[in-house]
Amino acid sequence: MRISVVGCGYLGAVHAASLVELGHEVVGVDVDERKVQALSRGRSPFYEPGFQDLLEHSLASGSLSFSTDINAAAGARVHFVCVGTPQKHGEYGADLRFVQTAAESLLEVLEPGELVAGKSTVPVGTAARLAAMFQEKVPGSLLAWNPEFLREGFAVRDTLHPDRLVYGLPAGRDAGAAQALLDEVYAPIVARGVPKVETDYATAEMVKTAANSFLATKISFINAMAELCEATGADVKQLADAIGYDDRIGRKFLNAGLGFGGGCLPKDIRAFMARAGELGADQALTFLREVDNINMRRRIRMVELAREVCDGSLLGKRVAVLGAAFKPDSDDIRDSPALNVAAQLQLQGAVVRVTDPAAVENSRRQWPQLDYADTAEEAAERADAVLVLTEWREYRELDPVAFGTVVAQKRVLDGRNALDREAWLAAGWSYRALGRRAG
Ligand code: UGA
Repeated sequence: MRISVVGCGYLGAVHAASLVELGHEVVGVDVDERKVQALSRGRSPFYEPGFQDLLEHSLASGSLSFSTDINAAAGARVHFVCVGTPQKHGEYGADLRFVQTAAESLLEVLEPGELVAGKSTVPVGTAARLAAMFQEKVPGSLLAWNPEFLREGFAVRDTLHPDRLVYGLPAGRDAGAAQALLDEVYAPIVARGVPKVETDYATAEMVKTAANSFLATKISFINAMAELCEATGADVKQLADAIGYDDRIGRKFLNAGLGFGGGCLPKDIRAFMARAGELGADQALTFLREVDNINMRRRIRMVELAREVCDGSLLGKRVAVLGAAFKPDSDDIRDSPALNVAAQLQLQGAVVRVTDPAAVENSRRQWPQLDYADTAEEAAERADAVLVLTEWREYRELDPVAFGTVVAQKRVLDGRNALDREAWLAAGWSYRALGRRAG
């Protein structure tokens, strides 16, 4: 099938290349010329494991192309909308400008019988509004909302092997036509028997924000327990292990530490609260404000802990920050807790050196006032404290004995509860972590 994908960021680019893998002929459209050029030349504009190979493979097949011109999307039977919906400046609500622009640009090429399939995370009610616009301007065209659940770092795997498909379908006769087109797009996945949930627009839109809100709540729950553990001397990691054995609870997303960041969870819970307010149902989501508060408190606590470890003052102290991306296996620094902490430390007078296996370039662009190093050893040279703030494998696997020869003071703060505590203690380090006793 000929398919267009409008918006070629983390979501759209991976989606476009994956659709080729599923047997389709795909054109990706984006307004960013540099991105389109890079993708066309087979160069991934972002770090995402497995994507570079997938991109090269899909381009080599001749079934993938990229363009800045929406006319390249003409003739596609399905048009996916994969543009971003960032938080508005100074407000909680989502900024729908890019969705609106993408939808309006599609009006130039859309023909009756073709399907627009929204993938962007949008406030509930958006699909119905867009469907009305498409119906008015291109009678006989179809709209579905088909949320995406991929995680950065696992984007390729999640796209090709999703754990469910959700189709938000139009009411009435159009539902069958929209569903058939989506089934054709995902045919190999549907054939594997992956669960499929067919809903109305509002439910599909809410599935996405509800899922991200649940994940954020789970993380903040364990981080609230970490605060209590700090007050009582209990150990949050053991607590998470123990409650996680109950499969109603589950151990996943119970890693206490610096909390959640990135381009999705923080802005999605805020946009969800804002939308609930508009709908007169704000009380239903007031708990998400607390989820957000708990999350932001962890960053402050991390800075306090660093100060405590540095004998009560950060002034002039050399602090190494390992990790800048909002999570490992990504170069995404949007709302990164690690960078947020690094910046706060610097503001409080510490001499901060940040390193990250993939995100230094992005970080330098956004936070030029911080000092950067290429390796953990370089960042930690003569450091008074080392903070591990993003749990990249290479930091988890650092040899505390060898690493101890680099620093001035063997003090490590494990911001993600990801290090082997006993090994670091045995190598003579003092070890501190959120939600765990000092060692
Ligand atoms: C999230 C969701 O997990 C995806 O399902 C969703 O599709 C995506 O948002 C989206 O809306 O596009 P992502 O932002 O890539 O994916 O990252 P997550 O793996 O959810 O991690 C988010 C943050 O939570 C990271 O900063 C991570 O370090 C933190 N986290 C995660 C914890 O602090 N503890 C945990 O136990 C798990």
